[in-house]
Amino acid sequence: MNEFTAPKETKREEKYESIILQIKHLVKDEKDIIGILSNIAAAIHQTFGWLWVGFYIIKKNQLILGPFQGPVACFRIEKGKGVCGMTWKHNKTIIVPDVEKFPGHIACSSDSKSEIVLPIKKNNRMFGVLDIDSIELNSFDITDQKYLEKIVNIIEKKLG
Ligand code: SME
Repeated sequence: MNEFTAPKETKREEKYESIILQIKHLVKDEKDIIGILSNIAAAIHQTFGWLWVGFYIIKKNQLILGPFQGPVACFRIEKGKGVCGMTWKHNKTIIVPDVEKFPGHIACSSDSKSEIVLPIKKNNRMFGVLDIDSIELNSFDITDQKYLEKIVNIIEKKLG
């Protein structure tokens, strides 16, 4: 067992409380954003075992694939396309209980059944998104949103 593995019976809230403390400690002395995003993706992936955990970063008016853990994924997403592009366009978290019912969902992996995408800002402007995919339907709710927003806040502080 390593430091990001919690016992299965641990409640989700407790896992989040624990991972947030660990992430704060982990990134405390680091400035490089690619390293920080890489380790945060790894920490979330290891703790919860979700299919895909990663980041898309806005460059030249597109979302470009950033650090992630999971199956290979699409390199580029246009603004307004898919769950990630809609999160960027509307600048708010989107929870998708069933990806097949989300018009325009981009299926990077056919194993993905539900998804949550959160916006990340740098100095009040959109920087990118945190995207998480699950192999089960209805994996994400307001509790995940609340805690994942705390993780996004840690990242935003690092972005300045
Ligand atoms: N499903 C996402 C695309 C990214 S992958 O899931 C990693 C979307 O619809 O934007």
